[in-house]
Amino acid sequence: MTRTPKSDFPKDFGPAVRDVDENFDPYEQSNPIPWPLLAIAGALVIWGGATLYFDLAAAPQGAADQVTRTAQANGTATPAPTVEELASAKADQFTAEGAALFGDYCATCHQPNGAGVRGAIPPLDGSRYVTATSEVPIAILLRGIAGPIEVKDVVYDGRMPTLHDTLSNDQIARILTYVRGAWSNSAGAVTSDQVQTVRAGLTDTLNQPWQGGSALEATFDIPSTPASPTAEAKP
Ligand code: HEC
Repeated sequence: MTRTPKSDFPKDFGPAVRDVDENFDPYEQSNPIPWPLLAIAGALVIWGGATLYFDLAAAPQGAADQVTRTAQANGTATPAPTVEELASAKADQFTAEGAALFGDYCATCHQPNGAGVRGAIPPLDGSRYVTATSEVPIAILLRGIAGPIEVKDVVYDGRMPTLHDTLSNDQIARILTYVRGAWSNSAGAVTSDQVQTVRAGLTDTLNQPWQGGSALEATFDIPSTPASPTAEAKP
């Protein structure tokens, strides 16, 4: 079924339509961009380029450098570390590694806080053996202990392992530097050379654990029973 659309137009559209040039090709008239617009665009390009150029010249090392520069401008910059600060950072690292080794080799018995185990393992925190002249704790670690030893008014009679085979001079130095400065202790650092000297002096006896506090007293003059434990507790 076809539907013829109803049309109101007359068949003839009039003279204007009859005059149409069938060969006419549409074209676009030349329509130039107005010059003020071109001028603004040009100015923006120059301004953008200049900004980039000067910003790059201001921060040749990139963002980190710019942050430093800003901090300096605000007066919040951290000054470059001094020689002393660098040395102290190195010492901190030595001690931190000692702390990690302490965790590996000592903390299971002496506890992470150095308090020991009541009646079984003596404390390292506040122990006069730890803070004595460095030879004493070095000798204890190298040979171990098997015999009664009194620490902070309590006598222990267990077995401290012999570690001269397990630990290097460097590891012992790090562990003891940490332990001597940890918790309430404040004794000096221990060097690898000091450990080597004590090790060399003990050659024949390295495998024989110290027979308790009296053996250490005989060798190092450290009293096996402190003269006045209460006085010693308050420096
Ligand atoms: C297997 C458990 C054990 C381990 C591991 C151990 N110790 Fe001991 N330590 C002892 C015992 C037990 C004594 C006491 C020995 C005794 O009673 O004869 C002792 C005694 C000591 C002493 C002398 C007493 C005192 O309290 O000051 C020092 C110093 C010491 N240990 C340091 C260390 C360090 C540092 C390490 C790690 C390198 C370590 N010990 C690892 C069990 C251990």
